[in-house]
Amino acid sequence: MVGSQVVEKLTTSATDKNRISGLTHNFYRYPARFSPSFASTVIELFSKPGDIVLDPYMGGGTTVVEAMIAGRRAIGSDLNSLAVFITKVKTTPLNKNERQEVALWLENNFKNLSYLHSRDRLEYLFDKRTKNLNLLRSRFLKKLIAVTLNSLETIQNSKVKDFIRCALLKTGQWALDGRKKHTSLDEFRAKLANNISEMLEQIEDFKQALSKESPGFPHCKLIESDAALIDKDSIFASKGLEVDLVVTSPPYPGLHILYHRWQVDGRRETPAPYWIAGCQDGKGDSYYNFGNRQQPGLHKYFESSLRTLKAIRRVMRNGAFIVQMLAFKDPEAHLPRYLANMKEAGFTEAQLCDSAITHDDSRIWRDVPNRKWHAALKGNTSGSREVVLIHRVR
Ligand SMILES: C[S@@+](CC[C@H](N)C(=O)[O-])C[C@H]1O[C@@H](n2cnc3c(N)ncnc32)[C@H](O)[C@@H]1O
Repeated sequence: MVGSQVVEKLTTSATDKNRISGLTHNFYRYPARFSPSFASTVIELFSKPGDIVLDPYMGGGTTVVEAMIAGRRAIGSDLNSLAVFITKVKTTPLNKNERQEVALWLENNFKNLSYLHSRDRLEYLFDKRTKNLNLLRSRFLKKLIAVTLNSLETIQNSKVKDFIRCALLKTGQWALDGRKKHTSLDEFRAKLANNISEMLEQIEDFKQALSKESPGFPHCKLIESDAALIDKDSIFASKGLEVDLVVTSPPYPGLHILYHRWQVDGRRETPAPYWIAGCQDGKGDSYYNFGNRQQPGLHKYFESSLRTLKAIRRVMRNGAFIVQMLAFKDPEAHLPRYLANMKEAGFTEAQLCDSAITHDDSRIWRDVPNRKWHAALKGNTSGSREVVLIHRVR
């Protein structure tokens, strides 16, 4: 039985509606990310310093950042190369020289970059990951981003280069993804400069928070992998590590989220984030959502979910907790099937002391504020709620 104080803390953090802020959490607005206070509360309540905390669907790395500053050993994994890139930048502190190099690039290179760079010698412009950036509203920004990427080639230090790429990614998302208003070149330049200054402060905050909680910087391990193969990774297969806590948010049954594309000029999809981050573009959206949304009965979803849950179970120690945040298109039909999968994979649901819970299924539910993917689900209201599922390895 999970006691009432724990349930109360969990409920408060799960229903937290504050804007996401602090540390490196705003280096990128990863779709369907959960709040840092939810991750940190779960980590504090269900693990202790030195424990191994895993997020096998880490997305933008919220769990990994929070686990590291709580002095846990963090492991994050995702099959999206973009997620791995973003989490790497968010969890890699820069030293003084590296921070200076970023600031100098901004002052000496970026501010003097010429937009009039010859197109012929600008290979970045002809990358196929710039698809759909040729219409009037985005093509000037496309060229400015290409010129900026080109200027990064002179930087030797990969941490510095990735940091600036991440700032460019954040600025590109702000300027292009779902934006109704046109962004001018001057606005883009000013925003990038501002983002870099803020991010330099935030990466320093992250570094300070790390050294306070865990002197010597705890290591974090990031893996680019299908969760169904997580147990095959050498960290588990040969080193034999066992996970003490999983905190995660897997793909949602029946709800397809665009983890891998931005939408420009209306609803045209572009793989531009991979172009900017310098990552391999993955596959179609079914790759990131456990299957095709058209498929009746969500067979593929539940098949993939079971396979991945079994693999996750194999890397966890007996008695370890797995805490998940999930939304359902049709909770009445899909929650019982999800719970049946959990059981089959070897997990038992924890009973919560329900004096602190208002929902009559004795679970913690929350309304989802301002979710872009939810707004896209015309006429469907059930996706606006998320539930916290708490299980233990049997
Ligand atoms: C809801 S998001 C996680 C968001 C994360 N909690 C955060 O705060 O940013 C789900 C993630 O699962 C990843 N994913 C989907 N299928 C996967 C699979 N089979 N193996 C590993 N990751 C997968 C997606 O790429 C996406 O990043």
